[in-house]
Amino acid sequence: MPFDTGRPEMTAEEFRLLRDFVYAYCGILVRDDMKYVMERRLWPRLEALGLTDFSTYYRYLRFDAQRRSELETAVEALTTHETYFFREPRQLKAFSEEVLPVLERRNARSRRLRIWSAGCSSGEEAYTVAMLLLESGRFEGWELEVHGTDISRRVLNAARLGEYGPSALRSTSADKLARYFVHVGPNRVRVRDDVRAMVSFGHHNLRDVDSVPLASRVDAVFCRNVLIYFDAPARQRVLRLLYDKLVPGGYLMLGHSENLINLSADFELVHLRGDLVYRRPEMGGGGGT
Ligand SMILES: C[S@@+](CC[C@H](N)C(=O)[O-])C[C@H]1O[C@@H](n2cnc3c(N)ncnc32)[C@H](O)[C@@H]1O
Repeated sequence: MPFDTGRPEMTAEEFRLLRDFVYAYCGILVRDDMKYVMERRLWPRLEALGLTDFSTYYRYLRFDAQRRSELETAVEALTTHETYFFREPRQLKAFSEEVLPVLERRNARSRRLRIWSAGCSSGEEAYTVAMLLLESGRFEGWELEVHGTDISRRVLNAARLGEYGPSALRSTSADKLARYFVHVGPNRVRVRDDVRAMVSFGHHNLRDVDSVPLASRVDAVFCRNVLIYFDAPARQRVLRLLYDKLVPGGYLMLGHSENLINLSADFELVHLRGDLVYRRPEMGGGGGT
């Protein structure tokens, strides 16, 4: 039944179809009480495509020649990309002071370090990690790679551009701002070129466990504030993928409100002085390759 705005309402059946379709694609579960949110966020898509109701939109997503790109646009409209530089400082401090020395010792021979920011949004997390590597002063002359991936091509484009405003910098100290950014306009900075050179970005759907986003295994994964949008089976599949992509002894950094309780026994919990992190065991563990 149309609202007086002329916008179509989403029926319960349309909500179920669209919700299940989105879940199957990316693992993001739109809760039942979020029907209105879904409706509001997808209205502009119906308008853009000249469609009159959500059933037609659902059929478009399933069968139209443009379905792939439209599905990405729909998921974009439904996901949260909130992020900023130096988010969760306690964890970053523990990473710098307690994890990096371990990785330095372990990789002293190869002098190579690879870190994956999975669900990197517009790149702040990946660049933050690169800045921490530089800041540590431990890896001069090493081959350092930080790879950021996300399901949203829009945020990846922003990440590649590497330009940010005040909101992204709300947790960045003045000295880090001076050291790692250049001004490009009023209230606008760009990440310095040497930091950008350490970081690359690529499209990857964490739900797609068969497509491997990185050629080699990594020493640490940051997958922060991404799993919260998935339900338990989707989280378990993602965690298995992360396990497989970590070197034995590699670290998994989750968001501060996330943990592996009832989700995975593959990782061991590491009690650092400043924080708790997870690690793929050196040997054995519950699974993976
Ligand atoms: C809230 S942001 C977190 C950004 C950053 N990790 C942080 O903690 O600041 C969540 C990101 O996860 C991405 N995401 C959601 N589902 C995904 C999926 N199935 N595969 C890859 N990325 C996904 C979203 O596009 C979004 O950019």
